[in-house]
Amino acid sequence: MRIGLTYDLREPYLAAGLTEEETAEFDRPETPAAISEALRGFGHETVTIGSLPALVDALARGERYDLVFNIAEGLRGTARESQVPALLDAYGIPYTFSGPLTLALALHKGYAKRIVRDAGLPTAPFFVVADCELPAPDLLDYPLFVKPAAEGSGMGIGPGSRVDDRASLKERIQALRTRFRSPLLVEHYLPGREFTVGILGSASCARVLGILEIDAKAPGDRAAYGFLAKEEYDTRIDYRPVPVDHEPFVAELALAVHRLLECDDASRVDIRLDGQGRPLFLEINPLAGLHPIRSDLVILASAQGWSYPTLIGAILESALSRTVGHASSRS
Ligand SMILES: Nc1ncnc2c1ncn2[C@@H]1O[C@H](COP(=O)(O)OP(=O)(O)OP(=O)(O)O)[C@@H](O)[C@H]1O
Ligand SMILES: [Mg+2]
Repeated sequence: MRIGLTYDLREPYLAAGLTEEETAEFDRPETPAAISEALRGFGHETVTIGSLPALVDALARGERYDLVFNIAEGLRGTARESQVPALLDAYGIPYTFSGPLTLALALHKGYAKRIVRDAGLPTAPFFVVADCELPAPDLLDYPLFVKPAAEGSGMGIGPGSRVDDRASLKERIQALRTRFRSPLLVEHYLPGREFTVGILGSASCARVLGILEIDAKAPGDRAAYGFLAKEEYDTRIDYRPVPVDHEPFVAELALAVHRLLECDDASRVDIRLDGQGRPLFLEINPLAGLHPIRSDLVILASAQGWSYPTLIGAILESALSRTVGHASSRS
């Protein structure tokens, strides 16, 4: 097969003046290189396309692909992850991972939580702040956690994310409003253990790949799992594989959310326990990072004894199993 690769690399954006944090979601060159190598290992021809403008040019030149392996995060707007899949849908070209509706919904944690809550699945009480106005007092009990509603990779998350009173809530909202254009999500602070769950497959074929418990090495490291802690993960974070049957409710919740949001091929679901030890949905990443060493989904797969090519092969196989009737199923 002729497989195109769409992705956003950090370097061009750094060169254009964006900061390390602003480019945190974009990939390092090793990622598309490793995906391409794995796909070639399965006998496919790979074509590196790059980001959305390069895809637009290629399609306009008449280039076509049997499938696009898409990990492009997109640059602008809260539906930025949807742009490449939407264009590929328009051209009837199949691709890996979820479609535009799912990617846009999942990127906005407030919308994703509303759907999850509406389905009766557990997620912490929350509200979305769209401007500088403070929510009515006593809407939710403190402590609360404040984060950008539509960013990823720990952006805007750090020691000040947990707020214990109205004055610090106000201060945090104002600080984040000046840094991020996206709305903010304010939810109950969840004091319990944290897990990230890897899911593979689509719909009824989706299954749990594995669970990782995520813990700060230093007790009381209040930087949470924010941007800096993620960058320095090897010295600050412990990743502990947890057998699925040890945390069946965590596994069940993650799989239910993946299916509810109609995620395709793979996702990574973040879950945290509340004060009573109940697992609550935090957020879902339908375009989970695929860095061959650093990404959680890859760490998770390797804890199951899976090589990187095995993981890429499983994602490809899942995408191919959806390609029959692709145009009609997404039309
Ligand atoms: N309500 C909460 N209570 C306690 N900690 C939280 C809460 N929400 C988020 N966190 C902490 O902040 C981290 C990042 O939050 P979240 O997963 O929502 O953001 P993200 O930037 O989208 O992450 P990712 O890198 O997975 O895309 C979580 O892994 C968790 O450690
Ligand atoms: Mg997360």
